[in-house]
Amino acid sequence: MSYNLLKGKRGIVFGALNEMSIAWKVAEKAVEESATITLSNTPMSLRMGEVNVLGEKLNAKIIAADATSIEDLEQVFVQSMEILGGKIDFVLHSIGMSPNVRKNIPYDEIDYGNLDKTLDISAISFHKMMQTAKKLDAIAEGGSILALTHIAAQRTFAGYNDMADAKALLESIARSFGYVYGKDKGVRVNTISQSPTLTTAGQGISGMTSFIDFAEKMSPLGNANADECADYCIVMFSDLTRKVTMQNLFHDGGFSNMGMSSSIAEEYISR
Ligand SMILES: NC(=O)c1ccc[n+]([C@@H]2O[C@H](COP(=O)([O-])OP(=O)(O)OC[C@H]3O[C@@H](n4cnc5c(N)ncnc54)[C@H](O)[C@@H]3O)[C@@H](O)[C@H]2O)c1
Repeated sequence: MSYNLLKGKRGIVFGALNEMSIAWKVAEKAVEESATITLSNTPMSLRMGEVNVLGEKLNAKIIAADATSIEDLEQVFVQSMEILGGKIDFVLHSIGMSPNVRKNIPYDEIDYGNLDKTLDISAISFHKMMQTAKKLDAIAEGGSILALTHIAAQRTFAGYNDMADAKALLESIARSFGYVYGKDKGVRVNTISQSPTLTTAGQGISGMTSFIDFAEKMSPLGNANADECADYCIVMFSDLTRKVTMQNLFHDGGFSNMGMSSSIAEEYISR
């Protein structure tokens, strides 16, 4: 069901790779809610072909960009304003990658060159995105910028590796830039801390399927899926949340405030 929550709004969605991607669902729901959008991802991910299908379906132009490159990001914002016909109202940063995770290098043996890449792609790109947008005055007054994060930023999850450090930095950037962007331009900046979700990036984390099962049993409402995450993003892009900024918003079925649930306890009793 559509509520026209984003009627008249223009947005940029970074990070839709395939149908499993959280950004894919956000792009679909944003258009369902009457927004016009552009899509962006790396040249390599675009060559894989699936994003073109989404672009055609949503009538959304795709702009190739490595989110660690300022020149690429400038192109995304300049072209998006041209294509969509004005300043941008919302931006989704749905980007994450760790070469240490990909190569299965344990946390206490990580390669520091890889760590630089993890932090640049998964966290500093968010700062670069906002710095570029602000310099170009590309975001409309009252605009909303979101990045996706995970509770590994606050608590240790075995196997999350240096992505945990990247998420802690990402959330800090949201607060620090949120202050400046709010004060200077009335723009909101938040992170949504999502339940474990089976996506291409999610599958890279070791022990992901057991973590999904554990989180499902721990959370009173169960894990939030990618569609539900997209719903939350839409509300955060809408005018219904105009005074929410500099927050890390848990979207996890209650997991973040749990210590022990009856279903996990039962597993131990039955042993
Ligand atoms: N899947 C989960 O369990 C989960 C949970 C919480 C938060 N998140 C976060 O959600 C976001 C989206 O991930 P997803 O789970 O939908 O997986 P995904 O693999 O579909 O998306 C990750 C995206 O990052 C893009 N990317 C990688 N390097 C890039 C670069 N240099 N420039 C631009 N884009 C680049 C990839 O092409 C891909 O589209 C990530 O930040 C992830 O950490 C995921």
